[in-house]
Amino acid sequence: MRTVSILGVTGSVGQSTVQVIEELRGQGAEIAVEAVTAGGNLSVLADACRRLQPKFAVVADAAQLGAAREALAGLNVEVGAGPSALEEAGARPSDWVMSAIVGAAGLHPTMAAVRRGATVALANKECLVCAGPLFIEAAAKHGAQLLPVDSEHNAIFQVLTHPARVEKLTLTASGGPFRTSSHETIAAATPDEACAHPRWRMGRKISVDSATLMNKGLELIEASYLFGFPSEMIDVIVHPESVVHSFVHYVDGSVLAQLGSPDMRIPIAFALTWPDRAQVSTPRLDLATLGSLTFEAPDTAKFPALKVCREALKRGALATTALSAANEVAVEAFLDGRIRFLDICRIVEDSLSALEGNGAASIAKSPTSFDEVAAVDQAARDAARRIAGSLAAA
Ligand SMILES: NC(=O)c1ccc[n+]([C@@H]2O[C@H](COP(=O)([O-])OP(=O)(O)OC[C@H]3O[C@@H](n4cnc5c(N)ncnc54)[C@H](OP(=O)(O)O)[C@@H]3O)[C@@H](O)[C@H]2O)c1
Repeated sequence: MRTVSILGVTGSVGQSTVQVIEELRGQGAEIAVEAVTAGGNLSVLADACRRLQPKFAVVADAAQLGAAREALAGLNVEVGAGPSALEEAGARPSDWVMSAIVGAAGLHPTMAAVRRGATVALANKECLVCAGPLFIEAAAKHGAQLLPVDSEHNAIFQVLTHPARVEKLTLTASGGPFRTSSHETIAAATPDEACAHPRWRMGRKISVDSATLMNKGLELIEASYLFGFPSEMIDVIVHPESVVHSFVHYVDGSVLAQLGSPDMRIPIAFALTWPDRAQVSTPRLDLATLGSLTFEAPDTAKFPALKVCREALKRGALATTALSAANEVAVEAFLDGRIRFLDICRIVEDSLSALEGNGAASIAKSPTSFDEVAAVDQAARDAARRIAGSLAAA
């Protein structure tokens, strides 16, 4: 019997995880569910509870406790609400935890799982971008096994046979919905256009990040912390078909890659069954039908976010904390229709400059504590809100 918990069960990755669990249970696998969490979507949370029968279900907003109890009545599940209940969901005993809350909100619940030495399937990249060195140190100290679920990092994990003999990594990027769009089209992009990803069905925040290419920058930072390689050893290449999920180049000239249809159930199933594998009914790759796979260099003039992320990574880990926080605020402002698409990256850059300029706490260094991470995260959010406010008013 395997026990699992799903942080962010109502989201895109969370729902794909539910599907994989149901399919494996259908084949006779014994998978018990300890805890599931939601942001605020009570109907999807109730549906997940009906299907998975967890012991504990949590909603993020403490004020929703009563509504959550009502929505989950009769499902024989203990109900919690608020930040401490989210952390409890990560802390409760389970062998495996899917970390699929979006944004820095996922950090503390995921850390609760890391601190008890769980196997953590990491979809939430913001945990690492926000607190990379502390997160990795804690995983090593408590013996937590991190299994990357982001398809690119999952691909690297699968073919990273000789970490000491790596020459470089190459992350593949789909290029997003605006890869071939003109500057004018991009400047006028609406939230729905930015969320219409050509290959992946994802939550709205990561969809906007994919459109700005910030997602690839966040993934560059994630890969650096996760696998321990500097920015100079990590390349990005645009691959619109999203079939090759990344490359590892070795010192002897060999290049290893993992391929598969763009379907998150593949890396999720890999993480759930690791170190084994299981039969999962994901779309099979048919290269003859596809005919060709194409690659091109990213256009950093059109999509500056990648460069901004690379520079932040070089500056220091608190710079990536600030970058991720400012980006969350900017994406939310864009999705709410308060700023334009091209303002997102500008807000991130200006927030980093504002934090560097105030001199109070340098961000060009690694954090020494989670309190320091929280302080820089808050300062970056404040700066980003100020800048977004002035852009919205202009
Ligand atoms: N989707 C993908 O294909 C994909 C691929 C690779 C990596 N990732 C990463 O995986 C993470 C999740 O992505 P997603 O696409 O699944 O996002 P999503 O569909 O937006 O789902 C996000 C999940 O987080 C919950 N949530 C939102 N705000 C919260 C808060 N303040 N506190 C607690 N829970 C909160 C949501 O709950 P409600 O829905 O109930 O509000 C939902 O369960 C992201 O970090 C993303 O970068 C996603």
